[in-house]
Amino acid sequence: MSQRRHFNLLARALHWSMAVAILAMLFIGAGMVASLRYREQLIDLHRPLGLAILLLAIVRLANRLRHAPPPLPADLPRLQKLAATLSHWLLYALMLAMPLIGWAMLSAGAYPVVLFDGVNLPPILPHSPALYGVLRPLHGVLAYLLFLVILGHLGAALFHAWVRRDGVFEQMAKGE
Ligand code: HEM
Repeated sequence: MSQRRHFNLLARALHWSMAVAILAMLFIGAGMVASLRYREQLIDLHRPLGLAILLLAIVRLANRLRHAPPPLPADLPRLQKLAATLSHWLLYALMLAMPLIGWAMLSAGAYPVVLFDGVNLPPILPHSPALYGVLRPLHGVLAYLLFLVILGHLGAALFHAWVRRDGVFEQMAKGE
C-alpha cells in the first residue's frame, strides 16, 4: 500500500484553525492578566474558547491515532526526527492540559465555570485553596512553555519550507 503524502483534510483543517485559536488564547490570557480594562470581556471569551480547544484537541488526537501521518524525509537527521516527534506529542499534551488545568483551577478555587450566560460547567475538582495555589501558577508556566514550543514548531516549519525545501511544510499545507 502506498504511503500518504499529506495529512488528511480533517487533520489540516484542525491544525490551521486550532493554530489561530491557540495563539489567540495565549494573547487573550496575557491581556486579561495584564490589564483590568477589558478583563471581564476577555475572560468571558477565554473560558468557552479554551473549552472548544479541549474538544477539538480530543477529535484531533483520535484522528491522529487512526490515521498515520505522512513519513518525514528519509534523509532527515535522526536528531531532527526525534525533535519533531517529541515536540508534536508535547503540543498534543499541552493542547489537552491547558484547558483542563484552567477548568480544574476554577473548580479548586470554587469559582463558577461559566461557558455562556446561564450555562455553567460542573466543577472537576473539589474546593481546595491549596490545589488552586498550585494550578493557577501552573496554568501560567505551561502557557509560556506552549508559546515556546509553538515558536520552535514555526521555526522548524519555515526551515523545511525555505531551507530544506523537502515537502514537509506542504504535507500540512496541501492535500491530494
Ligand atoms: C488552550 C487553552 C488555554 C490557553 C492557551 C490559556 C492561556 C492562558 C494564559 C496565557 C493566561 C495568563 C497566565 C498568566 O500570565 O498567569 C491564562 C489565565 C487564565 N486562564 Fe487560561 N488558557 C487556556 C484555557 C483556559 C480554560 C479552558 C479556562 C477556564 C475554563 C481558563 C481560565 C483561565 C483563568 C481563570 C485565568 C486567570 C485569570 C486571572 O487569574 O487573572 N483558561 N490562560
